[in-house]
Amino acid sequence: MNQSQLEKARKQLRTERLGWPLQFFSSVTSTQEIVREQALTGAPEGLVVVANQQTAGKGRAGREWWSPPSGGLYLSILLRPNVAPGHLSWLTICLALGAAEAIEDICQLRPDIKWPNDLELHGKKLAGILCEGAFQGTDLEFVVAGLGLNINQEFSNRPELAATATSLLAERVAKVDEADLLAAILKRIEAQYTDVNNGISPVPRWASRLITLGQVVEIRRSGGDLRTGRALGVLPDGALRLQLDSGEEEIIRAEDVTVLNS
Ligand code: BTN
Repeated sequence: MNQSQLEKARKQLRTERLGWPLQFFSSVTSTQEIVREQALTGAPEGLVVVANQQTAGKGRAGREWWSPPSGGLYLSILLRPNVAPGHLSWLTICLALGAAEAIEDICQLRPDIKWPNDLELHGKKLAGILCEGAFQGTDLEFVVAGLGLNINQEFSNRPELAATATSLLAERVAKVDEADLLAAILKRIEAQYTDVNNGISPVPRWASRLITLGQVVEIRRSGGDLRTGRALGVLPDGALRLQLDSGEEEIIRAEDVTVLNS
């Protein structure tokens, strides 16, 4: 997203908190870092940082998030939420759901959500979410909530991504107005976030978009061990109930896993 698209989005913004302020950078290491630095010096909830390029974009589990210039939407939001420690996963869910709904509004496409929070089209990843919390002891100080959405990326020169990733361009979506999309994403995320701050769970709406449910999935934990089983459903905190081949049930939480396939 370039600066003129961002200025257009600013004029269209109909949010109360998210995007006030809305900052643009042509190149950063990671928007997560820019927001975190400002959060530590007291920046307000609602700060949104958007970059045209990231030189060290971060994915989940220490992975890289490829962020070429004008390739996609790279944004991070500062949240100072009022959520119970057991419901922190609801914040990630807010972003997944808000982004999916906004893409549906603007692009007339219905992205699937692959547990825990990847947005997919035709089985390939379109967007990812990374929420990083900062704690003072056990108290949550703030959360930096990041969204990376592939818009114009072309994966022919990135064969390692071509098999698993897609973009709106690769899906041949007619030219998307990125300003409309950004304004809609912030509006939809804010609606979800307001509910969560009021103790209303986003899990039922999110679960209705999860393609993972009912499928046989392979899950690799960060320690390396592999679990295969059928995804039975989700718990109120978003954890996945997996029925293992042995018949036993196992609860999988999102923090440290990769869903290999489904
Ligand atoms: C994932 O691995 O699925 C999460 C990807 C999150 C990428 C976004 S892009 C904007 C923000 N800044 C980062 O460095 N990462 C997040």
